[in-house]
Amino acid sequence: MKKSHSENIVGPWARQKLDGLEAYLHGYTQALKKQTFELVFIDAFAGAGKSKIRDAWEGIEDEDLLLFDDEFVRAEAQFVEGSPKRALELENGFNKYYFFDADPARAELLKALKSEYPSKDIRIQIGDANPLIQKLARDFNHGGTRGVAFLDPYGPHLEWETVEALAETKKFEVIINFPLGMAINRMITRSGSIPDNWRCDLDKCFGTNDWEKLVYDDQPNLFGDINRHKVDDAASRLLGLYIDRLKGLFSHVATPSVVRNTRGVAIYYMLWAGPHRLGHKIADHILKQGEKVKAPNQKR
Ligand SMILES: C[S@@+](CC[C@H](N)C(=O)[O-])C[C@H]1O[C@@H](n2cnc3c(N)ncnc32)[C@H](O)[C@@H]1O
Repeated sequence: MKKSHSENIVGPWARQKLDGLEAYLHGYTQALKKQTFELVFIDAFAGAGKSKIRDAWEGIEDEDLLLFDDEFVRAEAQFVEGSPKRALELENGFNKYYFFDADPARAELLKALKSEYPSKDIRIQIGDANPLIQKLARDFNHGGTRGVAFLDPYGPHLEWETVEALAETKKFEVIINFPLGMAINRMITRSGSIPDNWRCDLDKCFGTNDWEKLVYDDQPNLFGDINRHKVDDAASRLLGLYIDRLKGLFSHVATPSVVRNTRGVAIYYMLWAGPHRLGHKIADHILKQGEKVKAPNQKR
């Protein structure tokens, strides 16, 4: 079956991510509904507005399908509402919604949300979200804005400078899906030879090149060369580095929750950081319903 380019085809774990996001946004907007702040939602890697859950049953013989509950099979193949729709459907919404996507076909589908939700103030920008959000964040340095930025890249596309710009406003909380298992740790090859463009992406994502000395053990050999060996707990060290750096920017950082694929492999981590205790309490409540990460290797 040919998949449409503009649909996000995601694993069934997408539901966990989107349900967690929705629960957080619901708690946040409920808590602030009597305040006079202008509430802003930023979705930096917004996608197409909907994601089709990857059909785990594709390729299975019809006969075998009869073994399973019909409704369950249908549910596995359904569309889930993507992050923009989850935010737009909230009971107590935001005053402004900023959606970004670098893919023009996906951004085109996002534009349909404007006619679907004519009463909402929706702003869509096509392109690399990093410079666009860094510029936008400067506008929020003054005034009575409060907001949440959902940062959900597939790979190392979220630049540290963007997280810094949002933290500097002291008004935004960030929810980051940190794609450690599905992308970042895979780019850090066992052999230690990393293409220059990957190295550059990783430096921008962490905002430092410290990741490299954390994940490789370099030992001189008898010939005076260096033997490079990737450490076994590289993923845990990288998560620790990222969280330590978030703690340097925000007063509050929640304990992350891990999201696994259907084979039990950790694919990404849901992280929350923000300037206020209230958001931290909501985030802790939501994230503890997922699988909490036990003390990542931090501060080494
Ligand atoms: C994981 S998907 C987003 C899914 C969406 N947040 C949801 O939950 O429904 C990541 C999206 O980021 C977009 N993307 C990749 N690099 C980007 C960049 N530098 N700036 C903005 N969007 C980017 C991709 O086109 C893709 O739609």
